[in-house]
This record gives sequence, structure tokens and C-alpha cells, in this order.
Amino acid sequence: MFSASFSLNPAFTIAPVSRRTFGSFVEHMGRCVYTGIYEPGHPTADSDGFRRDVLDLVRELGVSVVRYPGGNFVSGYRWEDGIGPVADRPVRRDLAWHSLETNEVGIDEFMRWADKAGVEVMYAVNLGTRGVQEALDVHEYLNHPDRTRLAELRRANGAEKPYGVKMFCLGNEMDGPWQTGHKTAREYGRLAVETARALRSAEPGLELVACGSSGSSMPTFAAWESEVLELTYDAVDYISAHAYYEPVDGDMASFLASAVDMDHFVHSVVSTADSVAARLKSRKRLNISFDEWNVWYLRDFEARRDTGSADWQVAPRVIEDCYTVADAVVVGGLLISLLRNSDRVTAACQAQLVNVIAPIRTEPGGPAWRQTIFHPFAITSRLARGEVLRVATRCPTYETARFGAVPALDAVATHDAGSGDVTVFVVNRHQSQPAALTVPVTGFGAGLRVAESWTLADDDLLAVNTEQAPDRVVVRPADDAEVSDGVLRATLPPVSWTAIRLSPA
Ligand code: AHR
Repeated sequence: MFSASFSLNPAFTIAPVSRRTFGSFVEHMGRCVYTGIYEPGHPTADSDGFRRDVLDLVRELGVSVVRYPGGNFVSGYRWEDGIGPVADRPVRRDLAWHSLETNEVGIDEFMRWADKAGVEVMYAVNLGTRGVQEALDVHEYLNHPDRTRLAELRRANGAEKPYGVKMFCLGNEMDGPWQTGHKTAREYGRLAVETARALRSAEPGLELVACGSSGSSMPTFAAWESEVLELTYDAVDYISAHAYYEPVDGDMASFLASAVDMDHFVHSVVSTADSVAARLKSRKRLNISFDEWNVWYLRDFEARRDTGSADWQVAPRVIEDCYTVADAVVVGGLLISLLRNSDRVTAACQAQLVNVIAPIRTEPGGPAWRQTIFHPFAITSRLARGEVLRVATRCPTYETARFGAVPALDAVATHDAGSGDVTVFVVNRHQSQPAALTVPVTGFGAGLRVAESWTLADDDLLAVNTEQAPDRVVVRPADDAEVSDGVLRATLPPVSWTAIRLSPA
């Protein structure tokens, strides 16, 4: 057992919790859409063909915004294929995932689904094979009220009112050589700024996201952001960031510290954006849209990809990673990092929502269930309210191959001045020792008591939830968490994620 503590003070705020931190991502990829959110004929399907069992889980997950329709898919997508009578819609090749897109689900269906799920839509336009005109066209279809050809087409297709989409992503991962229509930073920056200016002329209040790097290990990382932002700075509001984590060669110590890498990634992008602002003598500050993040066993996928297993099928099973207890603890840690960086990361999307590296899994004609990673996301989204508080932990460190010495404990807290609730989110990354946590909470005035507490931990770090055992891994109350004499005390098991909500007594 090791001792760990941190102080909390309501005055030490970072930023308000942005609801958009709890975003997700639906790409036309694998079984995310077909047999994921949409499966006419399924016993729970509603009159639009959407699975009600999945909709219930999406609401329980607490998702705020959903990025759509890709991902790599969007860089070859023609949005017009997905509108009008379904029988007239073409089947197309999707080069990104080597599969067939039937276009049964398009903009109008997805917007209906988003309405039922109670989520905002972040719409990505195709800047791979397409450009300014097509971005304007899809915007006109989505958001223009009436009288124009595409607004009237939307109304004829059943959507009387404009959808009012606010956030638009200007392409996807355009720095990646795998991207259809991959571009240099200069080529992309020019196209992105022209698209942004045109979209702003159509609707000034839009929030626009320029593509940052596909990952911090890209050879062009930071140089890409710098050159793209030199060209787009005044025209956009966000720069995107994407990061996927996995245990490499069984290195669990480094994997558990993935949030260290996410913090570093955010600080690097913020410094790069701010240095462009300095060069441009701009007082404007860009935020980060961390619009793809998760655990992804990418090396397994790359190793299998060469076999050509996904051979022009409709909705093949692609990257349906089955998540472990360790993965859930890492996801809890990544959410802590996103909250800690709330002053600059004001939107984030876990990639993806259903089946494809997702917190929700389904079987066609069968059940839907929660993966291990569902739990920290759902609880963090529900409990993180008010202001994010700065937390400096005092605890031992441990050695990692990737990041050197890292603190065994990682934490963040939120304070809701309205209700008086204080919630702490903590990860114990130590692989063999529990942590004895103490947190003085007298700074919040009236006495606080533990209102609820949840821990995710298991003796078997590789335990997973499956169709046969969907609740093998769940969260349990953190039994010994209590406040006495103005101090919160709790024991945190090795490799665990914990959330404790304190309320005024
Ligand atoms: O989320 C899976 C893929 O990862 C997305 O399509 C792409 O943007 C990223 O490389």
C-alpha cells in the first residue's frame, strides 16, 4: 500500500466542464452504422429501423455530440448518394475500408437518429476527393432554411426545418498518406481556408475544425499544424487531434500511463497554435477538438489487414476490439486528461460508438451490451459538472519504458457551485499496490459526505465483457470511501479507476 493525497480548492479552477468533452463518433465503417445503430428487422428496431436497445445504451453512456460520417470514409463520400428514396440510392465502393456502402443510411436518417439519441451532430465534409462547392452544398442541404434548391430538396425529403449543425470538420486526417486525396500541409491549408471562408459566408456563426495531425508520432507532427494554421488561423475555431493507445509488446506500465502522452500531445498542439498566433500577432486562441481518441489494438489490425479479409462486403466485422479491465482504466485516465485540459480541449469524440473500437457492442438479430470501457465514460459524463479543478497529486512514481518516471496516481476533480457537489476521478496505475488516498475537503465550506462512489478493478486485468457474459466487468461501489474530519479517505485497488461524488451534508 502506498499513500497518496491531493488538495482541492474551489478557487483553483481550470475551466468549465464542456459537455462536448463527452462526444463520440459514428463512421460508415464496419458495423458501426449497419447492424450497429441501424438494423431494420431487429426485434428492438423502431419504425425508422434504429435499434432501440442501442439508443438506450447511447443515452446511458451520456454522449453529447457525435462526429459523422467519418473518418477515413468521408474522404471518398458523396453525401448526395444518401438522400431521397432509398431504392434509388447507389451502392458504392468505400476505398477506405475496402467495403460496400449501400447508402441506406444518409443525412436525413442519421439526423433522425441523433434527435432520438439526444445528441448534437459534428459534421465532417469531404476534402479528400471533393472541395469547396460540395462543402457548400452539404451545408445548404443541412442548414439553409428554404427557397434554395438544396434546402427545398431537404424539405421534400421530409425535414421541414434546417438541422442547424454548428460544428463542421474540414476533412479528416489529411496528413495521412492512407487518406484518399491525401495532401501536403500547404495544399490542405489552402483548401481548408477557402472552404472555411465560403462556409462562413453562408453562415457566420459556424464552428470550424481544421485537421491537425493523425497522431503525435506522424513524421510531420507540429510542422503540419504550424503550416496549416499559418494559412487558416483566422478562419477556423479548432485544430483537431487524434490519438489511439494500446499496450505495445506487453508493456502494461507504459500503457497504463497513456494519459501522460495525451497531456503531452495537447501541450504540443497548444504551444504550436499559440506560436502561430504570436507570429500572426493574433489575440485569438484556438481550441482543440480531440475528435478521435480511444484504446485501439492497431497493430493487430495492421497485421491482419494484408490478408484482404474485408473483401468488398457490406458492413464487414472490422476492428471490433474486445476491451479489457486494463483498457477501461486507461480510458478513465484519458478522460481525466481531457478534463484536465478543459481550458483548451473543448470538444472530444471517443472513436467510435458501436462495434468499431466501441463502448457498445451488438450482434445482428441479437443483444447489445456494454464493453468495459463503457463504464468510466458513462460515469464521468454523468458526474463531471461545473468547473474543473486543478489537482496536484502527491504520490510515489513508477518507471515506464516510454515516459520515464510517472506518478502512480492520476486525478482530476470537478465542482458544481450550484449543487455544491464535488467529484473526484482517480486512477491508480500501480500494478501491485493499492493506494491509501486522503483529500482534505474543508475548503468547500459546509461538511461534505460521500453521495456515491464507483470503482472499476479486477484481479484479472484481461477480463472482458462478451455476449455470453455481458456483465463480467462492471463498476462497484468504492466501499470504504468516507469523509471524516473534513478529509476524504478511500482505498484504491491496484490498476483501478474510481469516481467519488461528495455532496453537502
Ligand atoms: O476510427 C477509425 C479510423 O481511425 C478513422 O476512420 C480514421 O480517421 C482514423 O485513422
